[in-house]
Amino acid sequence: MRIFTKLSAPLCLLFVFLCLKTAFSTTHLCSHEEALALLQFKTSFSINYTASDPDYCDYQPNYSKIESWKEGIDCCSWDGVSCDNVTGHIIALNLSCSFLYGTFPSNSTLFFLRNLQSLNLALNDFRLSKIPPEISQFTRLKHLDVSSSQFSGQVPREIAHLPKLVSLNLSYNWDLILETTTLRYLVQNLSEVRELVLSGLSMTSVNPRFFMNLSSSLTTLRLFNCQLRGNFPNSIFRFPNLKRFSLGGKGNLTIDLPSSNWSSPLQDLYLVDMDQDLYLGDMDCGRRLRESIGDLKSLQYLSLGCNLEGSIPASIGNLSQLTYLSLSYNNLSGQIPSSLADLTQLTCLYLSNNQFSGPIPASIGNLRQLTSLDLSSNNLSGQIPSSLADLTQLTYLDLSNNQFSGPIPASIGNVRQLTSLDLSFNNLSGQIPSSLANLTQLTSLDLYNNQFSGPIPASIGNLRQLTSLVLYSNNLSGQIPSSLANLTQLTYLSLSDNQFSSRIPASIASIGNLSQLTYLMLSSNNFNRQIPSSLANLTQLTYLSLSYNLLNGTLPPWIFTLPLLEYLFLSHNQFQGQINQFRPNSMFSAFQNLKILDLSHNSLIGKIPNCLPKSLSVLNLQANYFDGNIAFGFPEGCGLRNLNLHGNQMDGLLPRSLVNCRMLEVLDVGNNNIGGTFPHWLESLLDLQVLVLRSNKFHGSVQSTKQSPSFPKLRVLDLSSNDFRGPLPVRYIENFKAMMDLYRDEDSPEYMNVSSYQCSVVVTWKGFDYELPGILTVFSSIHLSNNMFEGEIPDVIGKLSSLKGLNLSHNNLTVHLRSLSVESNHLGGDQGEVLGLDLESLKILLKRGVFIGAMLYCLLVFACKRVLAVEGVVNVVRSD
Ligand SMILES: *[C@@H]1O[C@H](CO)[C@@H](O)[C@H](O)[C@H]1NC(C)=O
Ligand SMILES: *[C@@H]1O[C@H](CO)[C@@H](O)[C@H](O)[C@H]1NC(C)=O
Ligand SMILES: *[C@@H]1O[C@H](CO)[C@@H](O)[C@H](O)[C@H]1NC(C)=O
Ligand SMILES: *[C@@H]1O[C@H](CO)[C@@H](O)[C@H](O)[C@H]1NC(C)=O
Ligand SMILES: *[C@@H]1O[C@H](CO)[C@@H](O)[C@H](O)[C@H]1NC(C)=O
Ligand SMILES: *[C@@H]1O[C@H](CO)[C@@H](O)[C@H](O)[C@H]1NC(C)=O
Ligand SMILES: *[C@@H]1O[C@H](CO)[C@@H](O)[C@H](O)[C@H]1NC(C)=O
Ligand SMILES: *[C@@H]1O[C@H](CO)[C@@H](O)[C@H](O)[C@H]1NC(C)=O
Ligand SMILES: *[C@@H]1O[C@H](CO)[C@@H](O)[C@H](O)[C@H]1NC(C)=O
Ligand SMILES: *[C@@H]1O[C@H](CO)[C@@H](O)[C@H](O)[C@H]1NC(C)=O
Repeated sequence: MRIFTKLSAPLCLLFVFLCLKTAFSTTHLCSHEEALALLQFKTSFSINYTASDPDYCDYQPNYSKIESWKEGIDCCSWDGVSCDNVTGHIIALNLSCSFLYGTFPSNSTLFFLRNLQSLNLALNDFRLSKIPPEISQFTRLKHLDVSSSQFSGQVPREIAHLPKLVSLNLSYNWDLILETTTLRYLVQNLSEVRELVLSGLSMTSVNPRFFMNLSSSLTTLRLFNCQLRGNFPNSIFRFPNLKRFSLGGKGNLTIDLPSSNWSSPLQDLYLVDMDQDLYLGDMDCGRRLRESIGDLKSLQYLSLGCNLEGSIPASIGNLSQLTYLSLSYNNLSGQIPSSLADLTQLTCLYLSNNQFSGPIPASIGNLRQLTSLDLSSNNLSGQIPSSLADLTQLTYLDLSNNQFSGPIPASIGNVRQLTSLDLSFNNLSGQIPSSLANLTQLTSLDLYNNQFSGPIPASIGNLRQLTSLVLYSNNLSGQIPSSLANLTQLTYLSLSDNQFSSRIPASIASIGNLSQLTYLMLSSNNFNRQIPSSLANLTQLTYLSLSYNLLNGTLPPWIFTLPLLEYLFLSHNQFQGQINQFRPNSMFSAFQNLKILDLSHNSLIGKIPNCLPKSLSVLNLQANYFDGNIAFGFPEGCGLRNLNLHGNQMDGLLPRSLVNCRMLEVLDVGNNNIGGTFPHWLESLLDLQVLVLRSNKFHGSVQSTKQSPSFPKLRVLDLSSNDFRGPLPVRYIENFKAMMDLYRDEDSPEYMNVSSYQCSVVVTWKGFDYELPGILTVFSSIHLSNNMFEGEIPDVIGKLSSLKGLNLSHNNLTVHLRSLSVESNHLGGDQGEVLGLDLESLKILLKRGVFIGAMLYCLLVFACKRVLAVEGVVNVVRSD
């Protein structure tokens, strides 16, 4: 749809030009009454420069035609006004893109212009006015266009009283409703109508069959995104004059492409499901694209996205007038037919999101007019043909997500107009050719997820227009060329997951060079030494990832003052020293927007700060040497979802204010020196899924104070190696609903969003690096070993059908073999599979007559299909 409107812009421009020309060629013909009517009309609206969509009105930036409407000047020379040469009556009014803002009055003086033949009010903002029924007073009207102008309500029946109407465009008034009775009435009465553009209106009740009653002189019918449903009669293709037809969008439509006898002189055919950007939609146009498509010799524009299957018929090469061809988002397969090369007028070719296989035919180089080529998301293979270099008009090239191999042909440097090049997700190898530097128009270069090796050519500094450079997941090595600093437009730079070494060049940021940068990703390389202080100039950064490198030194204080930062990943480096030294206790408060902070796996020391920004959802300080107590006062409205302090030297108690973090999903304070009794108050955190207190100094009994529910989503509970006593926490275990009924589809395990940081906000960005392996949502375990729990192992454990790991070893527990019968005590269901079993301790236990600890455990979370049945264990022991 965007394309249409884009195309129509030059047409509009032409129209305006013609109007102006006409206007100037006449002198003082305008009647006083008509001039007054227009001036009065003008006062109904204000001029609001946001009222007209600049995407479609860019030819007229912030100038409203009505600004030229002034008393004392002949109204026939006003912008947008055309008069009859002879009578002087106003016959055409074009106020499209005039930034008109205000409700459209039903008593508007516009209706005085009884001679109007053409009225264009498109692309203004009438603030959800109704289309006034008074419109029927324009009895001479031939052309009416009120598209994209924020009209609402029902389409008035009175439009049918415009007997001369030839073209009617009501499109893209999303709140405008066309009812089936009105449509019937319109179709019966508008016998002259040739162009009917009704895309983007609400037609939920309309029966598509009524369109078949339209006059046989119909040339244009646009019904995109009208919420039509059902079967659209394919007799539409036998309308003898139909040139332009579009159908699709949201809804559930079928229309069978005729297998023969296309009688219409179609030039422009558009059958596309709107949800094409997301998935294959519901629209169905008969599954097969038949050879007869080649009969449509007049076709210039063809776009089909309607669940087509099979291969592209070779006859497509007969459509010699075709300039635009899109078959993206279907299930088409087979090879790309070489007959496509006959479509020498083609400017746009889109075949993405199908299952095409085999190579790109070398003959593609024939398509010399091509400006856009998208073959992404198929199964295409072989090398990228060097004949692509013949496509010298190409501005957009997307071959991503295929199986192309071999190098980028050096001849790519010939395609000088290229602004966007995406070769990501292939098996391409070799060096990045330095001829890329010839592509000086390039704004976006995506080569990620390939096997490119060697250095980034220094000549990359030529690509001064580049805003996005994404090279992650390759085998690139060497130093980052300092010429990168020439790319001053860059906003997105990802070099993660390569083998770059040496320092991060200071020049990346020096002299504020890359000052536009908002995403900088350098993780998983071999960068060493300190973070260059010049990065402090990157004040636009929202995302900074330096994880998994060999960086050392202390963390520079400025890193905590980057004002817009939302994501900061510094894990798995060799940073040392205190983080708090410069801003005692208030460091994090400098961050207003921080969502994820990961400093894990470094050698940081000292106290952690006591103040968290409310925006923070993930804080990972795991595996450092932080000491002291957890000083955070978790504020009311704390947004934390994942708090990981595992493996430090922290002491004190868990602060009760943690209950303010109502969205907390993961709390891991294992391997510290934290004391106190079991934090039963965490029960009120209904989203808590992972609770790890292992290897600390917790003591006392573990008892619920509430009835239920408690920890309804808990899947991982690790209390091992503390000093907990008393009976096993039966009441908790009874309420571990999540362990009883888990997502079981192990073929496609889901990762827990927050642990792996795949927050929905972020994951949509290309180049996002996954910093930590997620906790599988199918993973579920209870670890209570190395405490002093005593008493019996309760039967209820058998109910935790999704449990993958259970470790009760090294406690003082007894078990009555009698009670562990086959029926009631299967852990994890049928045919248990013994994977890891602490038989050693089991023997000792039996000798003592007490069953202490470790009946089973399943160390390998993933490989372990089922937790073994307790029954099996007992048998093993007995037969020993
Ligand atoms: C037009 O006006 C809008 C809103 O006042 C403004 O954002 C925009 O920059 C202006 N465009 C031009 C080309 O002056
Ligand atoms: C201009 O239009 C926008 C909506 O397009 C509206 O939000 C704004 O209030 C309008 N400005 C004035 C001054 O009316
Ligand atoms: C008006 O004048 C133009 C040339 O100035 C001419 O082409 C056009 O046909 C005239 N229109 C009428 C209605 O006479
Ligand atoms: C249109 O009607 C409104 C009241 O509904 C009135 O205020 C206004 O003056 C009328 N305008 C004209 C041109 O009659
Ligand atoms: C679409 O329509 C078909 C039959 O007309 C029906 O089977 C299908 O469920 C519908 N799909 C949706 C999403 O309404
Ligand atoms: C790149 O441009 C240079 C001159 O600017 C030219 O000599 C060279 O052949 C070009 N390379 C390619 C592959 O087009
Ligand atoms: C980078 O810019 C500098 C100065 O503008 C220039 O001397 C140098 O040649 C450029 N390097 C590249 C590779 O474009
Ligand atoms: C930061 O940019 C300023 C000017 O933009 C420059 O003077 C300064 O040297 C830069 N700082 C660093 C550390 O590169
Ligand atoms: C950082 O690492 C480099 C070697 O990569 C070493 O020479 C330097 O001493 C280290 N600096 C610190 C502060 O440990
Ligand atoms: C283990 O529990 C029994 C009671 O079941 C108790 O008599 C014994 O003292 C406990 N052992 C230890 C080491 O606490």
